[in-house]
Amino acid sequence: MEQFKFIDLFCGIGGFHQALADLGGECVYACDIDTDCRKTYERNYGIKPDADITKVDPKDIPEHDVLCGGFPCQAFSKAGKRLGFADSTKGTLFFDIMRIAKYHNPKYMLLENVRNLASHDGGNTWRVIHESIVEVGYNVIDKPVIFSPHYIGIPQHRERVFIMCVRKDIAELPPFYFNPDRVTECSIDLILQNDDEIDDLKKYQLKPEMIEWIDNWNEFIQGIKCDKLPGFPIWADSLCAMEDNHMIREWDTLPKWQQNFIKKNSELWSQNKQFIEKWLEKAKKNPLFFGAKAKLEWQAGETKNPNLWEHIMQIRPSGLRIKPGTYFPALVAITQTSILGKRKRFLTPRECARLQSFPDTFIYDDKPAQAYKQFGNSINVGLVKLFAQYMFGDNETQNKYSYKVQFGNKYRSPSLFDKFDD
Ligand SMILES: C[S@@+](CC[C@H](N)C(=O)[O-])C[C@H]1O[C@@H](n2cnc3c(N)ncnc32)[C@H](O)[C@@H]1O
Repeated sequence: MEQFKFIDLFCGIGGFHQALADLGGECVYACDIDTDCRKTYERNYGIKPDADITKVDPKDIPEHDVLCGGFPCQAFSKAGKRLGFADSTKGTLFFDIMRIAKYHNPKYMLLENVRNLASHDGGNTWRVIHESIVEVGYNVIDKPVIFSPHYIGIPQHRERVFIMCVRKDIAELPPFYFNPDRVTECSIDLILQNDDEIDDLKKYQLKPEMIEWIDNWNEFIQGIKCDKLPGFPIWADSLCAMEDNHMIREWDTLPKWQQNFIKKNSELWSQNKQFIEKWLEKAKKNPLFFGAKAKLEWQAGETKNPNLWEHIMQIRPSGLRIKPGTYFPALVAITQTSILGKRKRFLTPRECARLQSFPDTFIYDDKPAQAYKQFGNSINVGLVKLFAQYMFGDNETQNKYSYKVQFGNKYRSPSLFDKFDD
């Protein structure tokens, strides 16, 4: 499609907008209930979005060729399961998309949601979505298409469900297949700012007691003797729990998963008793070392010379989480963003923008907390382009990702998406 009009529902800060405008589209309508998102949107695209979609009359939305929407995921009632589209979707925001689609019948719809949508409610949620889209007159791939920016070299692990819909009279939609063996090597250097380019660099740098706290965990992970780096969460408080009368007394009241972690922590302690006792004595002197900060989750696989400063870290309620150093975990809509080990600082809002493939001309919210939240909620611009092009029938994209082109005419269900193992 050379020139087309699109609408941006649940627009956030305009991940869809950015991509479709780059492909030659003109945005004729946007809406989002969040005031700060609406401000960022208007600042960047000169469009004042409407607020609550549930209050919008489709008659007030201009004609368009493409409807886009990264809708919030809500459960569909099981009671509505066999009662058809209206009953199954009533009360959910997905229903509002269908309401607008029924009225306007755009040629294409591109929707996005969290990965969990694929397996949510034992597959019922996906079934209702799929049936509803077919019922309003669109071709849509039977199985949810799951894709992440890191599959194509963008250094963020963010698996999402993409729903491409083509009106039945326009075209067939060839089954999509991505071969997981083709995952491109990622490098975080692609999105990093040089420290000397960052305004107010100090704001993002780790404070000395935080560096000391991470140094302590680094000493722990480098100093313990074990066959394999512990894959279970390390809880400093329960390392020597089996010798702690208080824990033993309460043992039967603890849930199984907790007993399991405590046992594993205690085994680690008994294999490294001397080292851990000395380490605990030092670690506890750091004022940060309590609650979640007294826990560590190693999620970076096996390595001979572990060094936390080579990794990406996140402070989670479950502990200091250590991730591989080659790509970032999904940005999330909370202000606590990832720590870049090798730079001893947090990610900047500009780096978050780049992780979502927004151009450097994008103006983000002045308040970093808002900017982090908005990028955490937004969609990766590069992936919107990929799926829009596939849906519009772009030859190059379809040749690369259509199941038929990759495997010939022997059609069978793409195996990657057969199993949803959340
Ligand atoms: C997953 S985010 C979509 C982000 C967007 N695709 C982007 O690129 O930034 C979902 C958005 O739905 C908005 N939302 C939630 N309820 C809404 C409603 N009733 N009407 C309009 N927008 C709503 C939220 O404020 C949020 O920005």
